[in-house]
Order: sequence, then C-alpha cells, then structure tokens
Amino acid sequence: MSRVPTAVLVSGRGSNLKALLEASRDPSYPAEITLAISNEPEAPAIDMAAEAGCEVALVPHRDQPSHCQFETLLQTHILESACQLVCLAGFMRVLSPAFVGLWAGRMLNIHPSLLPSFPGLDSHRRALEAGVRLSGCSVHFVTEELDGGPIIGQAAVPVAPDDDEASLAARVLAAEHRLYPVCLALVAEGKVRMEEGRIVWDAVASGDALLNPSA
Ligand code: GAR
Repeated sequence: MSRVPTAVLVSGRGSNLKALLEASRDPSYPAEITLAISNEPEAPAIDMAAEAGCEVALVPHRDQPSHCQFETLLQTHILESACQLVCLAGFMRVLSPAFVGLWAGRMLNIHPSLLPSFPGLDSHRRALEAGVRLSGCSVHFVTEELDGGPIIGQAAVPVAPDDDEASLAARVLAAEHRLYPVCLALVAEGKVRMEEGRIVWDAVASGDALLNPSA
C-alpha cells in the first residue's frame, strides 16, 4: 500500500502533530507525516518532530516581506516534499483564499469546539460562558471561511460543573489526539472527500469519525 505523504503545519506545542506522527509510525496507517512546518522559530513542536525523525522546515512569517511571500515559501516546502495532504495543527496564521484554493479538499484543520459553535479564538472560554454541557473538537476541510469548512469528524466531551478553561481544554485536547488521526486516515483512504463545498462519504465510513463521550 502506498501511503499519502502529508505535511503538518504548526505554531506551538505540537501535541496534535505528535499524535499524527505516532499514528503514522504504523506502516498500515494510510498517511505518512513526512514534513512538519512551523512559522514560529521557538515552537516546542520543532524539537519534538525532529527527535521523532520527521523532516522539519522553519518558515517564520515575520521574516517575510508579505503574507503572499510567506505562503509561497510554505507551498515550496510542501511541494518539495511531494506532500499531497496538509494538516493544520495549532497553526495560528490565517491562510489566504488563494492558498486555501490550491489545497481545496486536501487541507484539514482541527478546532477545539463542536463547530459551528465557537469558531475562532477563546473557544473554551466561550463554551463555558455559554453554559454548554457538551464540548469537544472538530476536524474539517479548510475553506475560505475561518473554521467554517465541511466537518469530517467530531469528538464530544462532557463539560463538568467545576470546569475552568484549563480543565476543559485538557479534556478536549485528549479527544483531539484521538480524533485527528482517525479523520486524516479517512481522507487519505479516500473514504471521505469534499465536493462542491460539501462532504461526500463512502457509506461504510460515515460513522467512523464520530467519537462520543464514554459516560
Ligand atoms: C489545539 O487545541 C488546536 O485544536 C488548537 O490549538 C491547539 C494546538 O495544540 N487550534 C486552534 O485553536 C486553531 N483554531 P497543539 O499545538 O498541542 O496541537
């Protein structure tokens, strides 16, 4: 089986990148993480990925004269590594419609809420303020709309009455680490795809990316 070479774009801690690298260590996993790119030179994700034997590229956005040139450099690295899929994993730069268009149906993002609730920043704070009893995370195809693309998979977690942002974030993050590898595998295997801005499922797989609370 040929595995789909995949790039992961990060800006910080890199725990989702780590989960994807761990999944991709299994030779039967349908995607192979062959490149990690960070726009932040100090991101802890960089050392972690290098220690895991992954090729790492640094593309500091502050060193580029324009956002367009920053994205051109991203694209150059991705294409030089022959990557066919791109996963955003805590990548904190908004990508232009032009760049998103180049990767339509081939770029995924993980967001720490049950979309379409709480897109953008401070998802956990806003979930707590809204008093929701369930929160979670979503993996979606990236479109021009921030955190607004078609949803591939979601994992729900309960919100405890005494949760603060940190405790809720930790519970959601554990779910993220389970969900992202499942969703990437579904895309890499061709079991789910984006057509005309909507999700198209292989009927067999449609339940695979729905992770529910255990209690
Ligand atoms: C994750 O919780 C991810 O969902 C979130 O940033 C964190 C990155 O953690 N992404 C966003 O908020 C993007 N809108 P990580 O670096 O440990 O994977």
